[in-house]
Amino acid sequence: MIVILAITGASGAVYGFRLLEKLHEAKADVRVIVSRTGLQILQEETGFGEKELAKFGKVYRDYDLKAPMASGSYLFDAMVVAPCSMKTLGCIANGISSSLVTRAADVALKEGRKLILVIRETPLNIVHIRNMLSVAEAGAVVMPACPGFYHKPKTLEGLVDHLVGKVLDQLGIKHSLYRRWDGIAKT
Ligand SMILES: Cc1cc2nc3c(=O)[nH]c(=O)nc-3n(C[C@H](O)[C@H](O)[C@H](O)COP(=O)(O)O)c2cc1C
Repeated sequence: MIVILAITGASGAVYGFRLLEKLHEAKADVRVIVSRTGLQILQEETGFGEKELAKFGKVYRDYDLKAPMASGSYLFDAMVVAPCSMKTLGCIANGISSSLVTRAADVALKEGRKLILVIRETPLNIVHIRNMLSVAEAGAVVMPACPGFYHKPKTLEGLVDHLVGKVLDQLGIKHSLYRRWDGIAKT
């Protein structure tokens, strides 16, 4: 399974990095694209940079429009943008394919492939909400970076893993990153 993972300039770079680790573990063939601000925030929030991303495979920069995933003829199975900034969401929603992230997302939509956007912003303005509606109508899955608590996470990693597990669920990849809800525990 070929998965394009894009890391853009929203807070929550850890979601993208953890997802990369788990996709790699699941033996997915992952191609990473990182935007300029995405890389800055990854470094700021996690201490990881391009070197750490490259341990999992080839890393493409957002300006590299000659990269394979800029073409519909390149057969990838799914694309995840995690985290996805409001700027990237806005570009995808409006067909502005001026970067590799937004062009690859445009390709995913036009070719009918899975596109998952792990958006992160709060509060949301009406433009963000309209853009979410547009991408959802176009076939994307909008997954706000808002972890649940029903699995009773004890650590920050537990919270991150809930969201990452939900993305893996969307991709049809088996995992045990969080305990699934099976009803209220009897006392
Ligand atoms: C430290 C930092 C945190 C940011 N967090 C967010 C965020 O959570 N959500 C968002 O939509 N934009 C956020 N931004 C703004 C985006 O990085 C900015 O709009 C940028 O142009 C996004 O470009 P990109 O999507 O190509 O990476 C943040 C910027 C910085 C410097």
